[in-house]
Amino acid sequence: MHQAQIAIFAALLSLEFTGLATAADPAASGLPPIEPYCHWEQTDLMIVEPLCGLKGDAKRGRAIATDGNRGNCVACHNMPFGDVEGYGTIGPSLAGIGGRYPEGYIRLRVVDTKSFNPASIMPGYYRDPGKIHRPAKIFKGRTFLTAQEVEDVIGFLMTMK
Ligand code: HEC
Repeated sequence: MHQAQIAIFAALLSLEFTGLATAADPAASGLPPIEPYCHWEQTDLMIVEPLCGLKGDAKRGRAIATDGNRGNCVACHNMPFGDVEGYGTIGPSLAGIGGRYPEGYIRLRVVDTKSFNPASIMPGYYRDPGKIHRPAKIFKGRTFLTAQEVEDVIGFLMTMK
């Protein structure tokens, strides 16, 4: 593994398992405020309706996908940008993803892949925080991304055709 990849992957693991170790106060951590959770429905391996009925912004989504402290999708996935270093190759390339799958399929993958593939290491970015076993203190009541951030990332993925 490339040095930069190891660094982002380590950052991701600390986010998932221990929370942001140095930031005891969520406000100081740069995390957005805790929001009420929007329940979603899965049918035929898709979540057809946008989370909370929100509309995504592709430009913001691109920033979230590449931000090591937010989506960090590039830790595991290649995406067709020239300006990001240290792509991961643990997951499949997301180049052309918006042309390969319907939006509802992509939404379920980002929201909760483990719901249909328990062995997957793809993080569930919008799982019910009430069902997450012993979250790090800073993640209590939180999803990894907010509903708006998830919709932004999906908006961005749908532009990759
Ligand atoms: C820890 C590694 C990891 C991270 C971080 C990660 N993924 Fe994944 N992702 C995977 C793996 C591995 C797969 C392959 C299928 C599986 O294991 O479920 C996958 C599958 C997918 C798929 C389905 C692709 C296909 O061709 O079927 C999409 C879409 C996806 N990821 C989007 C994202 C987005 C968007 C992010 C960031 C918000 C992200 N992933 C972050 C590991 C990751």
